[in-house]
Amino acid sequence: MTVTVVVGAQFGDEAKGKVVDYLSGEADYVVRYQGGPNAGHTIRPAGRTLALHQLPVGIVRENCTAVCGAGMVLDPFELVREMRALRDEGLFSGKLLISDRAHLILPWHRLQDAWEEETRGSEAGGTTGRGIGPAYMDRAGRWGIRVAELSRPEILRKRLALLRKTKGFLEGREGVPSPEQVEADLLAVAPEIRPYVVSTEPVLWTAVREGRPILLEGAQSGLLDVDFGTYPFVTSSHPTTAGAALGSGIPPRAIDEVLGISKAYATRVGAGPFPTEARGADGDRLRERGGERGATTGRPRRCGWLDLVLLRYVARLNGLTALALTKVDVLGGEPQVPVAVGYRTVDGETLTEAPPTLSEDLARVEPMWRFLPGWEEFTPALKAELAEEGYRALPRELCRFMAFVSEEVGVPVTLLSYGPSREETLVVPPGARTAPRGLAPWAPPLP
Ligand code: IMP
Repeated sequence: MTVTVVVGAQFGDEAKGKVVDYLSGEADYVVRYQGGPNAGHTIRPAGRTLALHQLPVGIVRENCTAVCGAGMVLDPFELVREMRALRDEGLFSGKLLISDRAHLILPWHRLQDAWEEETRGSEAGGTTGRGIGPAYMDRAGRWGIRVAELSRPEILRKRLALLRKTKGFLEGREGVPSPEQVEADLLAVAPEIRPYVVSTEPVLWTAVREGRPILLEGAQSGLLDVDFGTYPFVTSSHPTTAGAALGSGIPPRAIDEVLGISKAYATRVGAGPFPTEARGADGDRLRERGGERGATTGRPRRCGWLDLVLLRYVARLNGLTALALTKVDVLGGEPQVPVAVGYRTVDGETLTEAPPTLSEDLARVEPMWRFLPGWEEFTPALKAELAEEGYRALPRELCRFMAFVSEEVGVPVTLLSYGPSREETLVVPPGARTAPRGLAPWAPPLP
């Protein structure tokens, strides 16, 4: 492993946290490069369940330095809460670097997030309400306040006063703090953050030069990317591979591998088109069996089936070199597994490689289904066999499903996850990987 990006290949919540946690045993650095407390990565080290929102998953590993990159928007109050919670559990390694260029989410941003959702009314996107969009808006508008200012009170005061002037629409709402209050609150938590603040990009350049293994941990996913996702039902950052370079300062040419993470089915939280959504009993069963509730907001997730049009699109967008299929155990016992291989539009057109640009059009496509044979339940006996024998113990139908996905997308499936713990992960041996049918010119030659 050299420089590897791990990206979401669906609508977020693909179990990236678990995969990054698994891979971080071999990494020297784990870097978050975008997003903020809208992410919720659930990991289970030593039988405990932890939801991390802003700290990279590598923070619980002694061998890893965790890095919050410049492309993140950080809520300093949440950050301190997260650090304290990990410390209380004895899980805070202390090997943490926070980019001085990352932007701060302030209480005004959260209030603005709520105001924006109210203003959109029936067009609301169902944001996580964490102030993500407004913080990125202020970054792009050059009103933003960065982590560096936590060490420079005089600059902080000036910028806070200016930023407050742009928030006139919050007048009359409850709980809008004054700039003086925000300043005092920031300066109260700053001492806990400051010891970890550095310019992270030179540290990462040195690590790249020395050939150290680096994991770039994406949050959300390509379909929520502000440019390429299902706009306007997207987040305000770039969860893609290109975003990993932007948000970490690691140059694109230094990236060696890109691992996309997809469930064997699909979920979405919040509003927006979801062509393969399963309503009724199928959706309820997937939600129940998959424990599909948001790690950040606790909202029930919308559930449905794997969508290969979107997966092909995301594979190209990110330059995936490999694919991990997660939660394959959730489908255990299904007699057949539906997969969308194309769309029929209302104009009678067939789409297979990319979704329509407008969300209104994507919401009206009709999926073209293939039904693959289902596989057996992941009983404790099967899990024990897998732990002992590895790949050879996998149900034949699941191998067929993997081969199908791999060939349809043009990217080899290299990792399978069949349960929440680190141990319930299987590396597909190179000899068993299905050759992509040549759709992905960036895919490495198979050994
Ligand atoms: P925001 O990122 O809070 O602005 O929310 C924008 C959209 O992205 C909403 O539909 C959210 O539900 C979705 N979203 C944001 N973060 C995540 C995530 O970590 N997993 C899944 N969906 C997310």
